[in-house]
Amino acid sequence: MKQVKLSPSILAADFARLGEQIEEALAAGAEYIHVDVMDGHFVPNITIGPPVVAKIRPFIQSAGAVMDVHLMIENPGDYVAAFADAGADIITVHVEAAPHLHRVIQAIHETGAKAGVTLNPATPLVTLEEILPDVELVLIMSVNPGFGGQSYIPASTDKIRRLRAMLDAIGSTADLEVDGGIKPDNVAEVVAAGADVIVAGSAIFNRKQSVAANIAAFRAAIA
Ligand code: DX5
Ligand code: ZN
Repeated sequence: MKQVKLSPSILAADFARLGEQIEEALAAGAEYIHVDVMDGHFVPNITIGPPVVAKIRPFIQSAGAVMDVHLMIENPGDYVAAFADAGADIITVHVEAAPHLHRVIQAIHETGAKAGVTLNPATPLVTLEEILPDVELVLIMSVNPGFGGQSYIPASTDKIRRLRAMLDAIGSTADLEVDGGIKPDNVAEVVAAGADVIVAGSAIFNRKQSVAANIAAFRAAIA
């Protein structure tokens, strides 16, 4: 099994000091930085777009980390080039937002970025069957997308297990990422089910402890 990577979601960061917060996460050893893009249509919230991605790119690049962009938007194919130009290393799109998913995955690859697919909690894994061989990342949403700070949906653990089996069955080395409600007290369950990239927002960027202490708590719980 691959080493487990952390992908702190900047959705929970203090946007007034975004660069600093990303530097804290990178200094603490975060391998990926997760960028949640929301359009107010696919999900009921609006967050950030390509200009912000371009501004944070140098921080992530100089640390040798991966910019992990999660598009929660309608018509994702229309924005793939803009996010790739802004510095996205991985671009993940929702199955529910892309009727021509294969074309969108091709468009992502044409930019040189890696391609990811994701699905909402109520969307079955069978919708991924045909596209799995073509992607470098699969993201299981363990909350309904739109907001940080929600509770982990317990049924996600079995879904992760079943996806792990599907990936293993085709010999895929794609990242199996999980996003939503993950904390030091449930991350071991998520990893045991087969996840190898963990997204965490409110459990990493909060006022309770430093980013470094929160990341250390995740590593201790995974070890
Ligand atoms: C939800 C986003 C998540 C979210 C995770 O729509 O995709 O990345 O920020 O936040 P927490 O870890 O607070 O659930
Ligand atoms: Zn996300």
